Amino acid sequence: EKGNYRHFMQKEIFEQPTVVAQTLRSYLRQVDQSVALPQIDFDLSTIKRITIVACGTSYYAGMIAKYWLETFARLPVDIDVASEFRYRDPVLEPGGLALFISQSGETADTLAALRHCRAAGQTIAVVVNVPTSSMAREADLLLPTHAGPEIGVASTKAFTCQLAVLAALAAHLAVKRGRMDRAEEAEVVQHLLEVPACFNAALAHDDEIAAMAHLIAPARDVLYLGRGPDYPLALEGALKLKEISYIHAEGYASGEMKHGPIALIDEAVPVIVLAPSGPLFEKTVSNMQEVRARGGKVVLISDAAGIAEAGDGCIATIEMPQVHPLIAPLIYAVPVQLLAYHVACAKGTDVDQPRNLAKSVTVE
Ligand code: M6R
Repeated sequence: EKGNYRHFMQKEIFEQPTVVAQTLRSYLRQVDQSVALPQIDFDLSTIKRITIVACGTSYYAGMIAKYWLETFARLPVDIDVASEFRYRDPVLEPGGLALFISQSGETADTLAALRHCRAAGQTIAVVVNVPTSSMAREADLLLPTHAGPEIGVASTKAFTCQLAVLAALAAHLAVKRGRMDRAEEAEVVQHLLEVPACFNAALAHDDEIAAMAHLIAPARDVLYLGRGPDYPLALEGALKLKEISYIHAEGYASGEMKHGPIALIDEAVPVIVLAPSGPLFEKTVSNMQEVRARGGKVVLISDAAGIAEAGDGCIATIEMPQVHPLIAPLIYAVPVQLLAYHVACAKGTDVDQPRNLAKSVTVE
């Protein structure tokens, strides 16, 4: 039931502090500040390579996980969308872990890719929200998300729960491979435990984001830009907006803009920039200047330091709390979801049942 919310999607966005905390509880041990994976009966330290396969929003969660697995665990990671992966004859060496990410656990292409990997001798890990699903049943290593039923066709809480599990997995593999010591592990646990409170701080901007929906709703095209793990989040932001508001949107790596998409920029194109402050922020500021010089309208989602450094010239800013880079993609997902939600409401579209889309895609 929707309770006091207008839509399931809105309810699910606001459930994130609770369901992510619930998910993290089964992966983090508060007593010794360590990460523990459920149901594990083989040695993860021997893995040579990870192949991540998923579709849609779950694929973007996988793209973010690639940054974490490489940075923390120093493991090589391949990633592909399931519909491409299964037909491109991928090279799968013995000793590989194939990781599938799915809310429903029934997406036809992802399930077919899983079976392909099993036949090729890979160990199968699955991050899935429906514990009775086909993917859950076929996993060697089952990593459940505890988001509860997700009704809105646009995925929100399942995505951030996937990210929580994937961050825990990356830290666990880093420890197993001797790339992270106890103190660093405890630090990661600490940051993950801060997520629910940071979500609440992000959700507090709901009214403000609703008030800026009119800046985006009339647009025909919207660009989302981000760097590092915020690049897949830019892709996710664009997908969310497309799905529920029917506005054409594209996500780009900030530095890639001048290699093509900048040709699209004019006064009618809002550009949403996802950029927590940090060592690369300066580069993002110059990307924003390139947009502004062509009349583009920048909406900056950053923290107080980033907003101060970016200077004036944005048509709107959304201030996120100052967070550790590890958890930034989870926290920045909230304004991205709220923006898509409020723009769709402003346009009067059917938020929970967008045209042409099904919640679970069980055909190829
Ligand atoms: O159930 P799955 O996570 O496997 O579904 C994958 C995609 O179909 C799904 O994420 C889709 O892109 C959503 N509509 C995104 O909001």
